[in-house]
Amino acid sequence: MVVRPARPDEAAALAALAVRSKAHWGYPPDFVRRFAATMGLTADVVATNDVQVGERDGVVRGFYTLLHRGDVVVLDDLWLEPDEIGHGSGRLLFEHAAARARAAGATVMEWEAEPYAVGFYTRMGGTTVRHTESTLGRRLPVMQLRLT
Ligand SMILES: CC(C)(COP(=O)(O)OP(=O)(O)OC[C@H]1O[C@@H](n2cnc3c(N)ncnc32)[C@H](O)[C@@H]1OP(=O)(O)O)[C@@H](O)C(=O)NCCC(=O)NCCS
Repeated sequence: MVVRPARPDEAAALAALAVRSKAHWGYPPDFVRRFAATMGLTADVVATNDVQVGERDGVVRGFYTLLHRGDVVVLDDLWLEPDEIGHGSGRLLFEHAAARARAAGATVMEWEAEPYAVGFYTRMGGTTVRHTESTLGRRLPVMQLRLT
C-alpha cells in the first residue's frame, strides 16, 4: 500500500468510504445514516487539512486525517474499505500517522475511539485518558499515544 496526500476532488469518495467502513461494525441503518450526515468531509476540508490516503494499484483502500495542534496531533479519521479490514492495513496507516505526527514535532497523538476499534488501538499502544460525548450523543473513549 502506498500512502499519499488526498486530493480535494476525492472528498466525496472518501466520505462514502468512511460510511461503508462504519457500517462494517453492524450498526443499524439509521445510525449509519446519522453518522453519514455528520461526516463533513468537503473538498475545502481536504484542501486545508492533512488527509492521507492508502492506495493499492491506484485504488484508494483507506485514509486518515491529522489535525496539527502543536504538541498534540488529533487523529480525526481512520477508515478502511470493509474488505481491507483485518489484513494489517490499519496498523500500516496508524503507524504512518504516528510517524507523521512525530515528524511534525508533536509529543502526543490523540483520538476519539469508535468503541469496536478500542482493541485495535490498544494493540497499537494507545491508552484511554478520558471520555467525551460524540456528535451522535455517545460516550466515547478519548485515547492517546505518546510519541516521545
Ligand atoms: C479500526 C481499523 C482501522 C483496524 O484496521 P485493521 O486493518 O483491521 O487492523 P490490523 O489488521 O492492522 O490489526 C493490527 C492488530 O490489531 C488487532 N486488531 C484489529 N482490530 C481489532 C479489534 N477490533 N479488537 C482487537 N484487536 C484488533 C489485530 O489482531 C492485529 O493484532 P496483531 O498485532 O497481533 O497482529 C479497521 O477495523 C476499520 O477500518 N474499522 C472500521 C472503521 C473504524 O471503526 N475506524 C476507527 C474510527 S475511530
